[in-house]
Amino acid sequence: MQYGGDYNPEQWPEEVWVEDAQRMREAGVTMVSLGIFSWSRIQPAEGEYDLEWLDRVIDLLHEGGIAVDLATATASPPPWMHETYPEILPVTAEGVTLGPGSRQHYAPSSPVYRRLAADLVRTLAERYVDHPGVVMWHVNNEYGCHLHEDHSPAAQDAFRAWLEKRYGTVEALNEAWGTAFWSQRYTAFAQVRTPAAAPYSHNPGQLLDFKRFTSDMLLECYLMEKEIILAAGATQPITTNFMGPFKPANYPEWAQHMDVVTDDAYPDPDEPESFRDAAFQRDLIRSMKPEVPWMLMEQVTGALNWRPTNAPKAPQQMAALSMQCIGRGADGILFFQWRQSRAGAEKFHAAMLPHAGTDTRIWREVRELGSQLASLPSLPVGTADARVALVMDWESWWAVESPDHPSNVLDYVAVLQRWYRALHRRHVMVDIVPPERVTASQYDLVLAPALYLLRPAGAAALTSYVADGGHLLAGPFTDVVDERDAFLDGGFLTRLGEALGVTIEDFGALAAPGAAGQATAPLTGPFGTVTGTLLAEEVVLRGAEPVAAFSGGRRDGDPALTEHSHGAGVGWYLATVPDEEGADAVAGWALERAGVAPVLSGLPVSIEVAQRASVVTVINHGDEPAVVRVVGRDLLTGENVTEVALDSFGYALVDTDA
Ligand code: GLA
Repeated sequence: MQYGGDYNPEQWPEEVWVEDAQRMREAGVTMVSLGIFSWSRIQPAEGEYDLEWLDRVIDLLHEGGIAVDLATATASPPPWMHETYPEILPVTAEGVTLGPGSRQHYAPSSPVYRRLAADLVRTLAERYVDHPGVVMWHVNNEYGCHLHEDHSPAAQDAFRAWLEKRYGTVEALNEAWGTAFWSQRYTAFAQVRTPAAAPYSHNPGQLLDFKRFTSDMLLECYLMEKEIILAAGATQPITTNFMGPFKPANYPEWAQHMDVVTDDAYPDPDEPESFRDAAFQRDLIRSMKPEVPWMLMEQVTGALNWRPTNAPKAPQQMAALSMQCIGRGADGILFFQWRQSRAGAEKFHAAMLPHAGTDTRIWREVRELGSQLASLPSLPVGTADARVALVMDWESWWAVESPDHPSNVLDYVAVLQRWYRALHRRHVMVDIVPPERVTASQYDLVLAPALYLLRPAGAAALTSYVADGGHLLAGPFTDVVDERDAFLDGGFLTRLGEALGVTIEDFGALAAPGAAGQATAPLTGPFGTVTGTLLAEEVVLRGAEPVAAFSGGRRDGDPALTEHSHGAGVGWYLATVPDEEGADAVAGWALERAGVAPVLSGLPVSIEVAQRASVVTVINHGDEPAVVRVVGRDLLTGENVTEVALDSFGYALVDTDA
């Protein structure tokens, strides 16, 4: 179990480093992420390295028993770089060059940036690869966080090369993008550009490929660094920190190249339900590499500084959210940052060691959490705790939020989170996986909302899932296009229709809340009457039976939820996106039909329950104290219990096998 944070010692004179190491020991810190933004200090000029100070910091930490997750420092290029090579700077869709003075001001596809980054990484890797204090490599930092796309000259060249590799011939590209429409037919790759500012909508195939390209360029940067570190002989795990559901990078694909998946998460204390969305993020991250415990690489101890208003965490909320990570598969809790900055853009961002010093609530909570984590035994890895899967797919996310759709207000992650919250309130464990990962042996219930783009392998996996005895709840706006964001012959639901027994004739967009027109669609079924939003599709039965019907509005009396037996399983199709209460009711009905039991039953919705093999974690996110019945050994007190009493933000980890 690791505990610590980002350490940026270059902000302080060396005597403070000695105090830092001492205080870290007091707080139970076991590991720090070092040097994430140190490039200008490490390399004051091209070809000139200053590493003695870094040697001294690493040695000091190592002597103090604090391990180092050594950063490659490539996330913020030093000022000499743009002075000599202005071509490394990224460009927005509107053609604005993003300048220095902040951070992440580099074009990921720039050959110059990559050459200079490679040189830095090689220098660091060769120097520290055998240092016993270096236990992990932290490549770059939050790839793409501030730079969601780049239209620089380097990006134009790289995009064309990427397309040529993907399509081989310009004819194949024309075919894939459907350029016969709007006179877009290309006769050479040289004519293709990134989808930058244009008079009207871009070609959707081009937009989708640009998203793939953007993710791939960032991934290429990561892989370049990883290969350099490995070539230097590294045996430590290599990672880069994710940001949960972050659209520009296809994380499930990236995770295959990571030894440990690490994540940064900043739930808003002002949002009463943000702990549920935080749980969604933990489960998403855990599901990317279930066999290896993940790590929380960054969170904040108190208030941060980058929202319009930045509420502090309530007393003990930091510990409660940390235990949420542990309960959902993490083996490390780290923060941004160790010591609060005295100057610079993040000086109001809370840290482990506050600016106000050690006689502070935050410092006391940091120490207490450190000692609790140190007291935990090593925890089992749970790879099969969830009997429910929520399908989330980055390519489908990119495509479904492309413009010019029946509803252009559909927010993919918001739809997924609505379903997730319904399951979370019912204390059910959920994996969040791409469609290809779905199997009937692992999941009793699979939810696939708005799975607009479906790859053949995903369609095959979902169809077999039903045939093999699973319960699939799909829809709406699912199985609409192929990987090119183009329709398939035969209408909609062309692949999943076999398992669902329906097809769709019209998507029936509903008005946005407050706008003119029908904004909601009531539907009535075995779960009562609930409210649909966004879409009220026109479903055509092709073997399925209606289970619920729209009960009002333009589809009054038409099927709203259908059921179809396929092989040993059941395919349900829901023709609308239920609102929060509706999702709750439908999820409850589907869980019962699929025979999925909660981890613990009969608890209020403010109590969170998570399962990690034999360890059950319970957390009270409510204001009132609560008593939870759970039998086993309380891992924080060492006592055998049949119930645990939880104050507000209280928690317990109970080994139910002990
Ligand atoms: C990100 C960055 C950190 C820091 C935090 C602040 O996660 O990686 O360097 O800026 O945000 O919340």
